Amino acid sequence: MVVHIVHGINLGQLGTRQPEIYGNLRLEDQIPILQTWLDAHFGGTELRSFQSDDEGALCAYLAQYDGSESVFLINPGAFTHSSIALRDAVATLTSPIIEVHLSHTYARESFRRASLLAPYTRGTISGLGWMGYRLAIEGLVGEVG
Ligand code: DQA
Repeated sequence: MVVHIVHGINLGQLGTRQPEIYGNLRLEDQIPILQTWLDAHFGGTELRSFQSDDEGALCAYLAQYDGSESVFLINPGAFTHSSIALRDAVATLTSPIIEVHLSHTYARESFRRASLLAPYTRGTISGLGWMGYRLAIEGLVGEVG
C-alpha cells in the first residue's frame, strides 16, 4: 500500500507562510518525520509526497495513482474552497481519501467553512496541525488494512 500525501496551492511555503496560523515546520521537514512514524506503526507502508500550486497537476496526480494499492491524504489549501476541477477529480477516485487542514478552518473566515471536496471524501480533519495527518493516516490504513 502507498499513502499519498497531496498538498495544494501555497503549501510549499509552510514554515515561512503565516507561521502564527500554520506553524514553523516546513513540508519537506515534516514528510520524513511522518515516514518515520509510519514505519514504526505500519511497517511496510510507503509514503509519497506531492505538492503543486497547479490545479491540473493535482488532478492528474490523483488519477495517475488511483487504485487498490493507494490511499490519499489531501490538504488542497485554498483549492478546497474554489476548485470544481479538484472536486471532480476526487469524486472520480476509487481509492479512499481524507481531507486534512492544519488550521481550524471553521473558526476562521466564513469562506473557509465550505469545502467543495468534502462530500467525496471519507472525512475531514481540521485544526489539529500535523497531528491531524497522523490521525488521517491511521484512518486510511485501518480502512484498507
Ligand atoms: C489550509 C486552510 C485553507 O483555508 C487555506 O487556504 C490553506 C491552508 C490549512 O491547512 O489550514 O492554504 O488548507
